[in-house]
Amino acid sequence: MTQQFGVIGLAVMGENLALNVERNGFPVAVYNRSREKTDEFMATRAKGKNFVAAYTLEDFVASLERPRKILIMVKAGAPVDAVIDQLKPLLDEGDILIDGGNSLFTDTQRRAAALESEKFTFIGMGVSGGEEGALLGPSLMPGGTKQAYDYLEPILTRIAAQVDDGPCVTYIGPGGAGHYVKMVHNGIEYGDMQLIAEAYDLMKNVLGLNATQLHEVFAEWNTTDELNSYLIEITADVFKVMDPDTGIPLVDEILDAAGQKGTGRWTVDNALEIGVPIPTIIAAVTARIMSSYKQERVAAAKELVGPSTTFDGDVKAFVAKVRDALYCSKMCSYAQGMALLSKASQVYGFNLNLGECARIWKGGCIIRAGFLNKIKHAFDDNPSLPNLLLAPEFKQSILDRQSAWREVVATAARLGIAVPAFSASLDYFDSYRRDRLPQNLTQAQRDYFGAHTYERIDKPGVFHTDWIHVADEVPEPMMAK
Ligand code: 6PG
Repeated sequence: MTQQFGVIGLAVMGENLALNVERNGFPVAVYNRSREKTDEFMATRAKGKNFVAAYTLEDFVASLERPRKILIMVKAGAPVDAVIDQLKPLLDEGDILIDGGNSLFTDTQRRAAALESEKFTFIGMGVSGGEEGALLGPSLMPGGTKQAYDYLEPILTRIAAQVDDGPCVTYIGPGGAGHYVKMVHNGIEYGDMQLIAEAYDLMKNVLGLNATQLHEVFAEWNTTDELNSYLIEITADVFKVMDPDTGIPLVDEILDAAGQKGTGRWTVDNALEIGVPIPTIIAAVTARIMSSYKQERVAAAKELVGPSTTFDGDVKAFVAKVRDALYCSKMCSYAQGMALLSKASQVYGFNLNLGECARIWKGGCIIRAGFLNKIKHAFDDNPSLPNLLLAPEFKQSILDRQSAWREVVATAARLGIAVPAFSASLDYFDSYRRDRLPQNLTQAQRDYFGAHTYERIDKPGVFHTDWIHVADEVPEPMMAK
């Protein structure tokens, strides 16, 4: 019983988190299903450090101080249940299991309830920041048994990314709250990435900017308060990399079909289930799916010809408008993500602190950005803010830029360039800011064909009209003009 922390699963995220914990002064025990992986780790990256390797789960558990703190870093889904089942007979009351994979939050809810009922404690922890973040300082989103978090706090606050107002970790909430927040982080990540892709498409294919110019534009955007972020920074870097075989920018050699592991779609599924509009994130997930129809698109490109119009405006001025459109769309995307967290907090009893969620995303994670500081302040100032767009700093920013945003979306439509996330964001803004939408007609239709009833704006109650007979009885000339 010498080690203070255990890690099961030595794929790259597991290895890097283990190294991070050990570097911060906590002796670590490691276990991996295949012995070779453990041996390789111990002989290379772990050499000379305070690690103990175990080759059976019994030895692994026996090497840990109590209450045992065991981080499970295996593939999300059935492998997590399998590891928990193997561990359970070896554990004592109060031992802490942590799932640090990208698990579906409902799985985490189920596991937390089952383990808590058996006197164990469980933390479902979202980890963001990729391989480098895991090693040097990720953003951590732990949820589950509060008492278990209190035991882990000294470790988690040390290994997390550090920003001006503290480590990028906080207790998120009970059950699957941590994995829920990580899921929404990923939905927002999808939105950001799609919005950047659309800005790139417009600047490359409408304005004709080359890789060097694209690098310069993104590098410049990364110096602005509005857009300074990890994703803009790496985008600027991407345009500097040439393919050694062909000598052309590597990005131009990459097949335009995006992969996805599922967290973006989970965000969409859940938003639809609990009734929160997240059109930008839906557009981002759909755009990845559409991109995967490569062969069909190549065939369709020959048949379905778009407009032949070309851009004839001022390139520099349009680049600035694309930047504004990107920022407005980004505000809408985050407004959707935060609104989703707020609703989920009520539906699932997560009791989320939205300002804290934004704060722990300020460093370490993929969506880290200066902009998150403003979101934190907006929710700190008004924890019951109904929508981010109504926060004073965001409201004026979007109003000041809306004409540029509209021009970009209109130009894209005129030239036949799809900007699904830019347009979905603008539609979100224009729907949210309208006091009357056309769904009065939808309600009339529903009542017409299905007697689904409707409410009225002039008096309370639930109404039904026998539309077909009333409509038949009104002679055409009598209709109101
Ligand atoms: C993170 C990322 C990470 C994610 C990958 C791939 O926060 O570090 O969100 O968890 O799994 O970036 O995601 P997709 O394959 O779905 O794009």
